[in-house]
Amino acid sequence: MTSILLLSGPNLNLLGTREPAIYGTATLDDHVEHATSAAASFGATLHHLQSNHEGVLIEAIHAARGVDDAIIMNAGAFTHTSWAIHDALSAFEGVIVEVHLSNPAAREPFRHTSVLAPVAHGSIAGFGALSYVLGVQAVANLLGITQAP
Ligand code: DQA
Repeated sequence: MTSILLLSGPNLNLLGTREPAIYGTATLDDHVEHATSAAASFGATLHHLQSNHEGVLIEAIHAARGVDDAIIMNAGAFTHTSWAIHDALSAFEGVIVEVHLSNPAAREPFRHTSVLAPVAHGSIAGFGALSYVLGVQAVANLLGITQAP
């Protein structure tokens, strides 16, 4: 069965109460639930890890090698800074999709660069909760899954 790892970076555990005007009022659990349902509709399983620690995220990417078919990652602010996560993703042989709730390109200049985008198959940003569902659809498409079993 197709297995997808959803990774959430720093501060995303605060979703629901964190800057709701930017990130909305849905919690991280809500987003994970939507992504899990979307994955199930393609016959895939999805498991999720959130961490505020760069090394924990890197070790999760290492553990996904040879195990998961795809990684969907919202790395939070590590998106803009972490060459270490960039390198870890480079060593993952499966599909990689970057997702963001907000549209970083329309925000402060420091958010305009993603150091992870060059090692992702693609990036989805600015669609709120829909970004996660679109991320799962992108994975299914890239893996050649066209319908549920
Ligand atoms: C974010 C955008 C990042 O710039 C920010 O640091 C986040 C959330 C998003 O989902 O919109 O923590 O990744």
